[in-house]
Amino acid sequence: MKNYFKIRKEYFLFFLVISLTSCLTNVEEDTIELEPNACADITFAISVKPIIDANCIQCHGSGGTFPELTTYTLIQAKAGSIKSEVVSREMPIEGSLTQDEIDAIVCWVDGGAFNN
Ligand code: HEC
Repeated sequence: MKNYFKIRKEYFLFFLVISLTSCLTNVEEDTIELEPNACADITFAISVKPIIDANCIQCHGSGGTFPELTTYTLIQAKAGSIKSEVVSREMPIEGSLTQDEIDAIVCWVDGGAFNN
């Protein structure tokens, strides 16, 4: 009788550990699913172009010596270096982007830099 009770207790602990572990796994999965959603609303037309128009084209306009960033094609061609320049905060010179603006550019470039 005493042995029987001992086994029951071990089973109980076993299932307790299993259920706690599965809860932890669910929390982790939820966090991973949230990340792509943070980029879901980011498009070139709504997010990226207005940021560049407001912060970059005074120096990167047409006819300048620096890469021109006035159209989708020109911006897309420089997408990789635009991302690294804004993440490192080297651009814009004499200005700054908010963290949300930097995140939006990173989302757009990492998502394929589409004309969306
Ligand atoms: C005040 C003027 C100024 C502003 C504003 C500015 N830039 Fe620049 N940018 C420059 C200059 C000058 C260079 C070239 C020298 C250098 O790399 O530091 C440059 C270089 C770059 C380059 C490197 C080009 C290459 O050949 O790879 C990128 C990319 C860039 N800028 C992106 C941006 C972006 C994106 C913004 C806006 C968020 C921005 N810049 C705002 C002046 C500016």
